[in-house]
Amino acid sequence: MKIIGTGSAHPKCAVTNEMLEKFLDTSDEWITERTGIKERCVISSEKLEDMAALAANRALENAGLTAADIDFIICSNVVNEYVTPALSCIIQGMIGATCPTVDINAACAGFVFAMDMAEDKLKCNKAKNILIVCAEEPSRMVSWENRSTCVLFGDGAGAAVVTQGDDLKAIRLTTSSLTEVLYYQRHLEPTPYIDKPEEFEPLVMKGREVFKHAVTNSCRDIRKLLNETGLEATDIKYYVLHQANRRIIDSIRNFLGVEEERVPHNVERYGNISSAALPALLDELNRAGKLQKGDKLVFSAFGAGFTTAACVIEWGI
Ligand code: ACO
Repeated sequence: MKIIGTGSAHPKCAVTNEMLEKFLDTSDEWITERTGIKERCVISSEKLEDMAALAANRALENAGLTAADIDFIICSNVVNEYVTPALSCIIQGMIGATCPTVDINAACAGFVFAMDMAEDKLKCNKAKNILIVCAEEPSRMVSWENRSTCVLFGDGAGAAVVTQGDDLKAIRLTTSSLTEVLYYQRHLEPTPYIDKPEEFEPLVMKGREVFKHAVTNSCRDIRKLLNETGLEATDIKYYVLHQANRRIIDSIRNFLGVEEERVPHNVERYGNISSAALPALLDELNRAGKLQKGDKLVFSAFGAGFTTAACVIEWGI
């Protein structure tokens, strides 16, 4: 697998911490100190698929391909307005592709899970070019009356075009069924036969437990991958980590003992945009000209499940 194009898109409505102070018992000081987040972009008049298609088209353009060149689309998404059809079907039509598509839900770790699936398809020649689109609107999962969760999230999309190549050096996926630390149950229609108690509530998160799992598992994944590839922590140009919280990012960086400049972040501008965080940050690095051919990159993400996913790639364009 080789990444040959990246793209991203964010909603136009930027909500600052000061704006949240107007209707929540919170403060810019608390949010900044505990999370590093200063603002997040949230969906208002846009639809999630508009951003997904925009990110996808930008990635295609960056790759020098058109939708007709794509053999498969993988969309990583936790929630959107449609339960069916899959978001990937909607994106396919919007960008004018005709290939098969599938949605996956590995929560915030979705981008690396999608890369793993893409690698398998490319390896056995079932596809030449694959479009990965991560499109997320976690702002619609939280209660905007709950200061513990709503301040953390934003919406957005990130995309990458991958083709056959040898740039994926190692990858590691894990799932541990720890469903009670982070979950969101969607409302289902009633039927005349339902006789079990059902409660639907906005996102529930045990913040401190999530924090602990995130740091421990991400450090474990990265160390295992470095060991497997024979690389030193300092051989890695950038650690592209899930953008959930600046303190989580800093803790991982401190445990790994790497310098600040190797761990880019944009959580301060976008908040946690779930699986879109990694490809959106990668796109920023790519478009800023910060990636050179041969650079080694580590991706590491974690999310509800509890899922974790990490990989080492060599930048090849
Ligand atoms: N403003 C002001 N006070 C707040 C806010 C807020 N926005 N949110 C919570 N508080 C209060 C709490 O009510 C609590 O008050 P109390 O002591 O009177 O009860 C106090 O602040 C401390 O709350 P804690 O939850 O203990 O604060 P903590 O230091 O653990 O920080 C946080 C909370 C930021 C959520 C932290 O636990 C965290 O970052 N966890 C990881 C969250 C995360 O990354 N989630 C998503 C990852 S997976 C995915 O991406 C889907």
